[in-house]
Amino acid sequence: MGLFHDAGLLLLLLLLLLLLFSDASVSTSSSVAVAPVINYNSSIAKPGCTDRCGNVNIPFPFGTTEDCYHSYSFFITCNQTSLPPKPYLQNSTIEITNITLDGQLTVLQFIAHDCYYPNHTRSSTNDPSIYLPISLTVNNTANKFTIVGCDTYGFVSGRRLNRNYQTGCTAMCYAKDDLIQGACTGLGCCQTSIPKQVWRVELALKSYNNYSEVSDFNNCSYGFLVEETAFTFSPENLTNLKSVVSLPMVVDWAIGNGTCEDAQMNSSTYACKSVNSNCYKPDNGYGYRCFCHDGYHGNPYLFDGCKDIDECGNSYLNTCEKGCMNTLGGFKCVCPKGYRGDGIKGAQGCIRGESLLFKLVSGIALGVIVVILGACWLHLELKRRRLIKMKQKFFLQNGGMLLQEKLASTRNIGSSSSSDHTARIFSESELEKATNNFHTSMIVGQGGYGTVYKGFLSNNRVVAIKKSKQVDPNQIEQFINEMTVLSQINHRNVVKLIGCCLETQVPLLVYEFISNGTLFEHVHNKAKARGLSWDVRLRIAAETAGVLAYLHSSASTPIIHRDVKSANILLDHKLTAKVSDFGASRLVPLDEKQLSTMVQGTFGYLDPEYMQTNQLTEKSDVYSFGVVLVELLTGKKALSYDRAEEDRSLANYFLSVMKGQKKESLFEIIVVGRDVDEGNAMRVGVLAKRCLNVRGEDRPTMKQVAMELEGILSFNIISTTVIGK
Ligand SMILES: *[C@@H]1O[C@H](CO)[C@@H](O)[C@H](O)[C@H]1NC(C)=O
Ligand SMILES: *[C@@H]1O[C@H](CO)[C@@H](O)[C@H](O)[C@H]1NC(C)=O
Repeated sequence: MGLFHDAGLLLLLLLLLLLLFSDASVSTSSSVAVAPVINYNSSIAKPGCTDRCGNVNIPFPFGTTEDCYHSYSFFITCNQTSLPPKPYLQNSTIEITNITLDGQLTVLQFIAHDCYYPNHTRSSTNDPSIYLPISLTVNNTANKFTIVGCDTYGFVSGRRLNRNYQTGCTAMCYAKDDLIQGACTGLGCCQTSIPKQVWRVELALKSYNNYSEVSDFNNCSYGFLVEETAFTFSPENLTNLKSVVSLPMVVDWAIGNGTCEDAQMNSSTYACKSVNSNCYKPDNGYGYRCFCHDGYHGNPYLFDGCKDIDECGNSYLNTCEKGCMNTLGGFKCVCPKGYRGDGIKGAQGCIRGESLLFKLVSGIALGVIVVILGACWLHLELKRRRLIKMKQKFFLQNGGMLLQEKLASTRNIGSSSSSDHTARIFSESELEKATNNFHTSMIVGQGGYGTVYKGFLSNNRVVAIKKSKQVDPNQIEQFINEMTVLSQINHRNVVKLIGCCLETQVPLLVYEFISNGTLFEHVHNKAKARGLSWDVRLRIAAETAGVLAYLHSSASTPIIHRDVKSANILLDHKLTAKVSDFGASRLVPLDEKQLSTMVQGTFGYLDPEYMQTNQLTEKSDVYSFGVVLVELLTGKKALSYDRAEEDRSLANYFLSVMKGQKKESLFEIIVVGRDVDEGNAMRVGVLAKRCLNVRGEDRPTMKQVAMELEGILSFNIISTTVIGK
């Protein structure tokens, strides 16, 4: 259940990822960095109203006829008699040159002048004034009160809110050289700001000295409230302003004199009529204004006045690299087919490649892969579980429970050091790790019985792991019995059984690793054989006999080795004998086929009586030991096809030599030479001959053999020491 839960979560995550992925290429943007250049393609005036007077657009709330303006403040008189026609504010003389929907008018304002004759009497003067209707105020940031002249001062006064105000400046100079092109600093030109919310303006000019000191170059002064950017002071203006009647001035307009909130309360008079419009309060005037939402343009004061901006039609308005898609109030960048990316210029843009179809296909493919992976995982998991079950089955089949019980009971009886002397049960994986997965390079021996691997346990202990070919299931109980007994044997001449693994089809046996090879190698390898002196051979024989005797007699049921041969006697670095494979031959089932292979492997050591009776006894081990003894004595192989047919079996050959049936004597076939004591050699030969008796009854017991060899060995040591002295 947990598995499906996990897989479901994974799929969900994947889908989410895909969704994110597929959405990434369409980026929405409604804010525009570049100032829009908007062409009004729809009427800015009320339906049925004229939207133009001469060169000037007249947008609602302004209008030139009744019902076409919002209120009388926005009434405009269009004087058709001039050419082109000119618009005037209401019925005044204030000429309008521009109206913008963001709340500004440009009007022409008369210039004040104050002129003198050379005799310092005033020739002409005027004090123009301007009265703005309600909702209109002089813009205080765009305009500057400016005076031009070299002996003058002036005032701008009027009303703001309900009170009077007055401000002014002085412009003086004493020579034409004082005047600076482009700079209005008080030298021939002065400028001052005006307060905000001014709706009435009066201008007045005065002279300090009636131009008595500057009359050679200046005799007039001029004053005006002007759009600052429309006037740049130049020394010539002292004279050339004479011909100028008026200059532009910026006027703010707004609706009413209340706040947005107040206005919105009464929807019938609320001026922001368009959908997608809203209200704002300008910070330097009265009343409120309307604006179209971002992404819309037009006249917010008209129903339906705010139209969606087609950003895609204007490359300044959209930031798309290739495909632009207009939306209400914004646009989307969409990469065309065959491209991917966010589509935004300067960012990722559109890169040729994965289309939506590609993404879909790759998404599906990814999904399929995930499903396949999931299935694989499921399959492996099931396989793993099957393997565990199989291991358990083998474990039981191989008598694992029985062994565990036995081990537990012996531990209970045993001493405190029992853990050292009892077998361990290894897991298969532990041994796989130890042998690098039973790698061929770890093989140290191979034969009819199976394969021996060298292995390194996790505690760095070196072991030999024996993998038999097959097990006879009927022998399992016996095998387990012997295993428990053997694992408790702690004899210096026995290769210690450390443990076994029962999880495999065939039990694996784990032994201590003996480094120096087998006796067989040492006897039959010429170089190594030189290291085996008579003493050493005798000692090895005695040690082997001793341990066989010990096993035959010690346990309640005698342990028969079953496969005594030089290849089963290992030697450590001190050439101490270590007998291996006790009772292990039991693992090899004795059916007809297997028998032949086994006989091939150990023929030459096999008890002839057993061949007839099929009864394996301690005396079978004695016979086999006899062959080993002859091997040690003569250095010849137990079975050799190099010898004549009747002499192939070393036992038969040796017996016929001993019986005097051969031309060679015993001494001639003994391999070791000078250090051999003839008497001792003869005693060993006789002992071997007794071991090789065809009838088991006629053979000595292993104990007798061991004792005899001990005797020969001690005598040999004594005699060689005597000779040495
Ligand atoms: C009116 O004023 C606006 C904003 O200052 C400007 O963009 C436009 O060109 C002006 N129109 C005329 C006809 O001067
Ligand atoms: C001031 O003088 C300059 C230079 O002759 C002239 O271009 C400009 O139009 C004058 N300013 C006005 C407002 O007449």
